[in-house]
Amino acid sequence: MLRARCEVRQTTGLKEPELAARLGDVDALVVRSETKVTAAILDAAKSLQVVGRAGVGVDNIDVPAATARGVYVVNAPLGNIVAAAEHTVALTLALLRRVVDADRSVRAGEWTRSKFIGRELRGKTLGLVGVGRVGGEVARRAIGFGMTVIAHDPFATEASARAAGARLVELDELLRTADVISLHVPLTEKTRGLVDGAALAKLKPTAVIVNASRGEVVDLDALAAALEKGSIAGAALDVFATEPLPADAAIRRAPRTVLTPHIAGSTAEAQTNVAVDVVEQILDVSRRSSSTIGPRSSHSRTRDRSWSSTPSRFAPPRSRGSSRRSASSA
Ligand code: MLT
Repeated sequence: MLRARCEVRQTTGLKEPELAARLGDVDALVVRSETKVTAAILDAAKSLQVVGRAGVGVDNIDVPAATARGVYVVNAPLGNIVAAAEHTVALTLALLRRVVDADRSVRAGEWTRSKFIGRELRGKTLGLVGVGRVGGEVARRAIGFGMTVIAHDPFATEASARAAGARLVELDELLRTADVISLHVPLTEKTRGLVDGAALAKLKPTAVIVNASRGEVVDLDALAAALEKGSIAGAALDVFATEPLPADAAIRRAPRTVLTPHIAGSTAEAQTNVAVDVVEQILDVSRRSSSTIGPRSSHSRTRDRSWSSTPSRFAPPRSRGSSRRSASSA
């Protein structure tokens, strides 16, 4: 889609200075979660009109800095929600049925069926922290497994939660009563560190926690300590405050864990969906950039309203007068 209209350059794994050095003449930049679009990157990209995030979260983009420089920020808010919801279910089942440990055991030549007695989802309570787009998809699937779904989300209405099959409760009640606690919040100042030692201390010893949202929402050291102590039954994590997960992270050695490398949104279908979503928006920005002034309605799609505190504004374009077009993906 893009190649038909502009020159496309593709790079991966660059450090900030190397990336900055390549962006001088770039009009559009597309990133996933690994690349941090900082003020320094934006300053180096003198012709930049738009940053596209091929995914939901825009927390790796300095949106205020982009806004201040007149650079649009667009994302792909819908393309990978099913992938994220399905991975959440996969993590939960892998944890409760001990799929990873059992696989390792068979490969090691063992056949110890009694070591791997699992637990069922049927009849259990799922506590969703965040019942927006992904949380809602997880709720629908959990109901199919015979679970009761409760949710905490200050931005959801009773009606929207009910539509997903969930009953809204206070966070405290959710933490104290749920069997599976699954996080589906964007990273904001309100959600950073939300699941800390004090929150973990409220969980039932049989409860497990699943996080496929943002790593910074969970205090990993407190979680590792709770697992070591046996005060909670397990954790399945796809996201980490520092990615890649450092070799010395305590959570790597914690018992009853399943860890995946931020792949919840990565399915063949979702890759295509988010690429098409974000490219369509970039082309839209490029078409409108000479005439549009002020916030664009489509930007409201960048954020799931649940849990978002300050909706970021879509940057008004500044005239940079570039006649040629190039896009870079990093
Ligand atoms: C997202 O924000 O959409 C997810 O983190 C998925 C991803 O970046 O791969």
